[in-house]
Amino acid sequence: MSLDATSRRYLMCRPTYFAVEYKINPWMDPTAPTDADLAIAQWSTLRQVYLDLGHTVEEIPAVPGLPDMVFAANGATVVDGQALAVQFRDPQRADEAPAYASWLSRAGFEVHEAKHVNEGEGDLLLVGNLLLAGTGFRTTHAAHARAQELFGRPTVTLQLVDPRYYHLDTALFVLDEHNVAYLPEAFSPGSQAVLRRLFPDAVVATPEDAAVFGLNSVSDGRNVVLPVQATGLAAALRERGYHTIGVDMSELRKAGGGPKCCTLELREANR
Ligand code: ARG
Repeated sequence: MSLDATSRRYLMCRPTYFAVEYKINPWMDPTAPTDADLAIAQWSTLRQVYLDLGHTVEEIPAVPGLPDMVFAANGATVVDGQALAVQFRDPQRADEAPAYASWLSRAGFEVHEAKHVNEGEGDLLLVGNLLLAGTGFRTTHAAHARAQELFGRPTVTLQLVDPRYYHLDTALFVLDEHNVAYLPEAFSPGSQAVLRRLFPDAVVATPEDAAVFGLNSVSDGRNVVLPVQATGLAAALRERGYHTIGVDMSELRKAGGGPKCCTLELREANR
């Protein structure tokens, strides 16, 4: 089987003001030192990898006082040129929402207000014509229903159960229009059964690969950009014919993020 890449348009936010100043997930330790220059270097490498793959990368200016703004995946969900704005669970991130909404609106996307806690592509992932929707820690069921109405895509709620994998995009990533990779243990028994039914050929990851944020990866259908530490997962993907590119995001992991968290896909009206 030959796998086809499609070129993507991504939005990223340079981690100029990156730090771990509060704790809203188990990875964050505000007493441990962080290095914003190293975070910028790792982020810049990720950005260059996308450019080298032929993708377009847009950049939203970082805002002082918003150390988690680098996690652009949480800025919105964008499908068919329609952007569903976000509403963060935690007050520390609240001001990121209007920053992303106004950037998207200026870029020509139609922005729809969030009416419920909804952390964007952190929890809402499009696989072909299905929208996979995580809940349990951040994004609520009500936001899933709103996403289904707005995007007109069948929306499948998945229950997350492990606080380390608090966003869907830390436990599952989309490989192509038909398949995903995921960590079963991060989901409730019922949601594991749903995933088995929907994706019988899925790449099932190990706890070791998940613990280095291996499931926070970005695929264009052929090239998979994943944390360099996720070696078992990379081997499994190569066996399936994917081309893997390892990136080191160790500094951003201190805030609970990896490559996908730093990347928001901008899907225009014709795709
Ligand atoms: N510190 C951030 C938070 O807990 C990390 C967000 C990571 N983003 C993601 N898409 N998983 O909200």
